[in-house]
Amino acid sequence: MNLGHAMLDTVLITGSAKRGGAAIARVVHDRGYRVIVHSRKSSEQEARLLMAELNVKRADSACLWIEDLSEQMLTLPDFTNLVGVVANASEYRNSDLSSPSALLMEDLRTHLLGHLEIIKHCKDVLIKRQGAIVAICDIHTERPNKNYLSYNISKGALHMAVKALAAELAPDVRVNAVSPGALEWPIAHSIDTARQQEILASIPLQRVGTFEELAKAVCFLLFDATYTTGATLMVDGGRSSFLA
Ligand SMILES: NC(=O)c1ccc[n+]([C@@H]2O[C@H](COP(=O)([O-])OP(=O)(O)OC[C@H]3O[C@@H](n4cnc5c(N)ncnc54)[C@H](OP(=O)(O)O)[C@@H]3O)[C@@H](O)[C@H]2O)c1
Repeated sequence: MNLGHAMLDTVLITGSAKRGGAAIARVVHDRGYRVIVHSRKSSEQEARLLMAELNVKRADSACLWIEDLSEQMLTLPDFTNLVGVVANASEYRNSDLSSPSALLMEDLRTHLLGHLEIIKHCKDVLIKRQGAIVAICDIHTERPNKNYLSYNISKGALHMAVKALAAELAPDVRVNAVSPGALEWPIAHSIDTARQQEILASIPLQRVGTFEELAKAVCFLLFDATYTTGATLMVDGGRSSFLA
């Protein structure tokens, strides 16, 4: 299966059926690129709707790739004319030392190993097209978030991969990270009002960020920051400067 396009510069955004990933897909698409919307089965319906929305705007400007990145053996399609990869797919869930080891392995696959497989698979086309990679990390890759052990470890590993790959793939492919702080509050982990106030008090810009702000930062690193590699752009309202 070839998800690329003979004529059109294409960007793959993992986990892009909804929320932050979908915002990135829309902003990348607005910049004139063809996008590969990626999701696992559980979000296939939202992914199909997004693909249809983008194809209404421009014919054949979006396609779909369904794959669970936590699977041990990924089925990787061909990606002709790929100029960008955004490693966004993410599993945000509680874990600590009492959690099953299988959970840590799953999160490592989703955040790190799945994305490494994709990059390995696309390396030649990215080099040929002088492309760029952006990984979405987290302010907590530097200072861990309590009770999110496997999330911290696996996002932290992804952050190190950005720096290591930036060195390995230079001068052909730029590799950078965006580290968000609190964006639009997560739905699955409803945060109580007191905790929300506590978080807001730690953000100099006094609000959470929007997914569109995340997407604009990603596009800056993908397309505009042509003399930047191995860097991390914080999208956190200034919060990381004030973490204890
Ligand atoms: N929101 C925040 O406040 C915040 C803060 C710091 C960092 N970030 C990072 O910013 C990015 C966007 O945030 P978000 O809130 O939109 O993330 P999110 O809601 O956690 O969404 C991530 C997407 O990844 C998909 N995904 C998870 N595991 C997968 C797997 N094994 N294979 C394929 N897809 C998988 C999810 O699919 P399903 O829809 O099927 O679950 C989901 O659509 C993420 O990388 C996140 O870690 C967000």
